[in-house]
Amino acid sequence: MCGIIAHVGDGNAIGPLIEGLENLEYRGYDSAGVAVQNGSGVKVHKCSGQVSELKEELRATPKGNVGIGHTRWSTHGPPTDENAHPHTDTAGDVAVVHNGIIENYERLRRDLEAKGHEFTSDTDTEVIPHLIDHHLGSSTSPEAAFRRAVSDLDGTYAIAALVDGEEAVYATRQGSPLVLGLEDEKWYLASDVPAFLEHTNEVVYLEDEDVVVLEPHEVTITDLDGRQVERAADTVDWDPEETSKGKYDHYMLKEIHNQPTSLSNTIEGRVQDGEVALEEFPDGTFADVRNVQFVACGTSYHAALCGEQLLKEAGVPAQVVRASEYVSTSGPVSEETLVIAVTQSGETADTLGAVRAANAAGATTIAVTNVVGSTAARETDRALYLRAGPEIGVAATKTFSSQSVALALLTQRIAADIPVGTVPESTESLLNTAERLPDDIETVLETSDSDRIAAKYGGSDSYFFIGRDLGYPVALEGALKFKEITYEHAEGFAAGELKHGPLALVTPRTPIFAVFTGEDDEKTLTNAKEARTRGAPIVAVAPEGHPAVQAADAHLEIPDTHPTWASLLANVQLQLVSYHAASHLDRPIDKPRNLAKSVTVE
Ligand code: AGP
Ligand code: GLU
Repeated sequence: MCGIIAHVGDGNAIGPLIEGLENLEYRGYDSAGVAVQNGSGVKVHKCSGQVSELKEELRATPKGNVGIGHTRWSTHGPPTDENAHPHTDTAGDVAVVHNGIIENYERLRRDLEAKGHEFTSDTDTEVIPHLIDHHLGSSTSPEAAFRRAVSDLDGTYAIAALVDGEEAVYATRQGSPLVLGLEDEKWYLASDVPAFLEHTNEVVYLEDEDVVVLEPHEVTITDLDGRQVERAADTVDWDPEETSKGKYDHYMLKEIHNQPTSLSNTIEGRVQDGEVALEEFPDGTFADVRNVQFVACGTSYHAALCGEQLLKEAGVPAQVVRASEYVSTSGPVSEETLVIAVTQSGETADTLGAVRAANAAGATTIAVTNVVGSTAARETDRALYLRAGPEIGVAATKTFSSQSVALALLTQRIAADIPVGTVPESTESLLNTAERLPDDIETVLETSDSDRIAAKYGGSDSYFFIGRDLGYPVALEGALKFKEITYEHAEGFAAGELKHGPLALVTPRTPIFAVFTGEDDEKTLTNAKEARTRGAPIVAVAPEGHPAVQAADAHLEIPDTHPTWASLLANVQLQLVSYHAASHLDRPIDKPRNLAKSVTVE
């Protein structure tokens, strides 16, 4: 994980570096640091804790027009000052920031120590500056030494380095994201676009093994052997406004409230005259597919469960596999298999591992992702973009809604193409009500009683979420969101499973949020009543007038609509419940402990 940033310009690099780190902090917040090259050597400033603490340290601002920065999510060594990046060689002449894991670092470290290099941290990263330093003595240039050091590394990395006396940043990537921002002879390198979006939206997505050298008037991109490579520039259409909190206390709340807009963007032009119209996937695209697998993690896994459900309803063999389990449990994969990677960031290492396995097995692969140019988008055969705009809060909210809608549309397209598929009768009403969804979400946001309900049930022992059919993934997602940002115990269950064990945990101090989507609701109501008989308070997430409302202790209302969309509306209510519960507990909602937005390690 981690966020890295580098800048070369004509003014002091510290400002853009700190801004960049603040915008990348969602990727990790264990420690932060910068290094600048200022004519009298490489100066490093770093500390454990958040970027705000580093800013305090930088009161007497160091100067230099060339610099690198890092915000860390620790993999090797605890979040201490010593383990914070940038790391240096023994003399402090080379400084390096790194995102990823160096798999052969123990052997490299032993070899370097035997040669007299002194290490000061527990990290895998620290071998890199020592390696560069080691090669400097026998290389024709710092760039050549950088290349030789890189070729010694195994693992995943995005790296940026400074070398004393050189007005340059040397960088490369292998399996971790790195994007170049171009602004009139000022250059930025970062793990993600929001790092520099306030300065430029002209970007180049770098490929594995690209070596980039940033100098005051020049950027060069070459391969590991030094051959020039051409990389096209893209224009990112995200608005810098989208990366600020605006009037909201937290990004998460802003992103929950952004859902009517982000969903309109996801849907726009993709439903025409009551039919799915995905320009990326014209009629017949999936004619050769016979079975579908989804691979995803966390919240994206829950969205994938919705996709699986919809395909099965249409008679298409479909299965969701947790991406981290895919290599060992994918089941049969052939050229007739379509593998859909669902990943907001497009950079989740587990999901990318599954995509690579599916590609190697000859499957057709698709990425359903929010990030144009992400690794998942580039390593799959085609991408379906969410168009949800940047999501900064670590807890995914608006992208879950957009993933679910994008998958609902994509699965209709797939079912229509595959001979074994039959488009269900309910498709017409699904598509006819799709365009109403943003307004229905607006209604939920305006009328939700979630703050009061979160306060009412605060201090409980545990929080359960139950649902059936498409309400089941929503129950899982409701529980994940709740535990992620409140740190309270929460579990999601298929409603019918409660009686097969979890009921033993039910007491008056275990409120149960029951999701009613209009599919087999009477059974879910029976399951909720079984728990209520044992003392558990029931919060019904259901339309007004639904029988569950009478039988429950509290009510979160959703507009009456197609079951697929009802599950999404219920999810918005549950997002709000988690948000308010976490807010009452004064949790750091956008940066929950131990987590990071983009998990780029396995
Ligand atoms: C969601 O709130 C989590 N932060 C997490 O489960 C996330 O959904 C997961 O890590 C997958 O991320 P991706 O969609 O970027 O692949
Ligand atoms: N492995 C490095 C460390 O522990 C970088 C971690 C990361 O990219 O998440 O500091």
